[in-house]
Amino acid sequence: MDLRDIDSPAAWTVADLEADRSWVFTLDEAARAGLARTVKAAHDPARPLFDYRGEEFDLDPAWETLAAAFAEAHHGRGLALVKGLPREALSEAEFELLNWAIGLHAGVARPQGRASQYLSAVRDAGIDYRGASGRGYSSNAKLDFHADGADLATLACFNQALSGGQSMITSGVTARRRLIAERPDLAETAHGSFHFSRQNEEAPDETPTYGQPLFDLADDRVFGKFNRNRIQSAQRYVGVPALTPAQAETMDVLDEILRRPELMFTMYLAPGDLQIVNNHTLLHSRTGYVDHDTPEKKRLLCRLWLAPPDSVPLPESWRAYYREIAPGTVRGGIRGHHHDAACQAFEARQATRLGMTPAR
Ligand SMILES: [Fe+2]
Repeated sequence: MDLRDIDSPAAWTVADLEADRSWVFTLDEAARAGLARTVKAAHDPARPLFDYRGEEFDLDPAWETLAAAFAEAHHGRGLALVKGLPREALSEAEFELLNWAIGLHAGVARPQGRASQYLSAVRDAGIDYRGASGRGYSSNAKLDFHADGADLATLACFNQALSGGQSMITSGVTARRRLIAERPDLAETAHGSFHFSRQNEEAPDETPTYGQPLFDLADDRVFGKFNRNRIQSAQRYVGVPALTPAQAETMDVLDEILRRPELMFTMYLAPGDLQIVNNHTLLHSRTGYVDHDTPEKKRLLCRLWLAPPDSVPLPESWRAYYREIAPGTVRGGIRGHHHDAACQAFEARQATRLGMTPAR
């Protein structure tokens, strides 16, 4: 068990993020206009997303800013906010295609659930988040702190909620550091295995639950993973060991640390905002929300999960979930129940285009 203190640009506090706002990027008029133009030129409602090629989209002059934001999220503080996607100029379908186009340039999109969808509309579909198959992105519930299931996640806002829906982000690297300093006994527990449920979304060759520590190291980097809902959900399965009192206390103390005002950064995404997070170094959450009555005003975010080409090695303990841990591999995601030949062909084509090793 390696409880060394490891520093990183992602080991921030709220004061650090506020003192240096260079993680916030803004697209200028020319960049916005260029994005709207290239998306409108390519958009054809009859074409499935898999049909579009990265080469069809000229993202310049916005790409320089977008690439810097991806680099900040991936190798810097773990968080980037890009303001000014051309939301007003685009329909909902065009806005989705814009996100898809950015994803085609930034990495290999990963499937996100049972339907093996590669782009999720984050909206309230009335799903019970606490149920055995619950997923936060389809509910309006307050969510537990968690990491999404791929190296990077992008979230772009089309519509805001009437109220609530605030996004909360805490550095797992800082949280680990505090846990080690304050409760070394529980820090040790956190570096041991916890069982997580796949929420009935496992692919045919995957088990319904898997074990993974809340913190682990690889190549002198800290990796954090948490999701109380899924850990509790895994307890329903025969063969999953009952949580020990030390594990239960570790989750409580970690939750308390993650919510400390000096560590938990809060923000609202406004229409046209694109948030990029690193799911190794940050943990995030969201408050519950109340939606508009009018369907076309309802809260709507567009979410992508990405495996970027310049990825770092993951801990061995992350293999069960990510399936691949070597740098530059197509890894992570939730293959779900429909990961078919079309999905595999898309992934292989994108991997080749970006010089990556395809998933097995
Ligand atoms: Fe999430």
